[in-house]
Amino acid sequence: MKRLPRLLAIIAACAVSALAIAQSQEAPPAEAAVVEAAPTPEQDAPATDTASAPADEPAGARYVDLRRVRPITGDAAAGQAKSELCAACHGPQGISIAPMFPNLAGQRADFLYWQLVEFTRNPDSPMSPLVADLSDQDMLDLAAYYASLTPTATPAEVETQAPQVEATLAQRGEQLYLSGDPSKGIPPCQGCHGPDAGGHVDALRADRDGHTPYAAYPALRGQQAIYLQTKLAEYRDGKMHDSTTDFVMTGIGEQLDDDSIQALSTWLSSLPAAQ
Ligand code: HEC
Ligand code: HEC
Repeated sequence: MKRLPRLLAIIAACAVSALAIAQSQEAPPAEAAVVEAAPTPEQDAPATDTASAPADEPAGARYVDLRRVRPITGDAAAGQAKSELCAACHGPQGISIAPMFPNLAGQRADFLYWQLVEFTRNPDSPMSPLVADLSDQDMLDLAAYYASLTPTATPAEVETQAPQVEATLAQRGEQLYLSGDPSKGIPPCQGCHGPDAGGHVDALRADRDGHTPYAAYPALRGQQAIYLQTKLAEYRDGKMHDSTTDFVMTGIGEQLDDDSIQALSTWLSSLPAAQ
């Protein structure tokens, strides 16, 4: 893997330039409602929720309110034409070239789009400088493109344990995913990510106002194990605070210990991604 060190260098460079754009946040895209204060984790909390921001948040922190969004539409063919740069890390077919980069192929379009929007608002991700020059239409098209891809390759196997230990871990992960662990306060993941880990079952069902509050609930099956582990630890440590959905998942992440994270990541990454 000669490309890996080079990519790590790119990421390091990206992190530095991300600081430069920290001050130049643009207005949110048309459909993004933004709330001034931290939302509560409940999906049906009112939009006018005025709960105060977490203690370590600067006053006036703003969050994208994904409880009141409409389904997105983009042009997948146009997205493909704009995806050349993305392929360097996420692979030409949306299966990433290294395990710390997430696979994008077949992911929910709404989730992909809103992640991109969040990266334009939050300077701390390696993705931030990469989305700085994208228009809203670019993000819609790229989201439509990656969602339209059928995953053709399984992610790189990361053997961290002896096969027997790995199998036991996966079994524990499946059980946690489907049933949770009441003794540790871990809810079943399937309620929000779907029984097959392909995303929320009611993702595109609109409520009476035409909003689709579950559209940006991601699929998890076939995702890279290392990426899943990193992400779960970030939720647990309260590092994700850009949207109402971040707060939903943070409430879950806080219940997870290292063993549970490893078990869940092992099982989810072992599932074939294609649906
Ligand atoms: C230098 C490598 C690199 C390049 C190039 C790159 N990405 Fe990323 N991408 C990442 C990393 C690393 C993450 C994880 C970021 C995080 O968790 O903060 C990520 C995350 C994402 C996510 C969120 C996925 C999820 O499951 O949460 C999306 C969507 C995404 N990238 C789309 C794109 C698009 C579209 C492009 C091209 C415009 C692109 N990326 C270019 C490295 C890259
Ligand atoms: C109450 C609903 C809910 C439950 C239960 C839930 N999640 Fe989530 N999860 C979400 C939402 C919403 C997001 C999107 C967060 C965001 O915007 O970053 C998410 C995001 C994630 C991500 C990030 C995916 C990516 O590509 O970036 C992972 C990994 C994840 N959840 C794993 C789990 C696991 C494992 C469990 C079970 C222990 C679980 N979730 C339970 C709602 C839930």
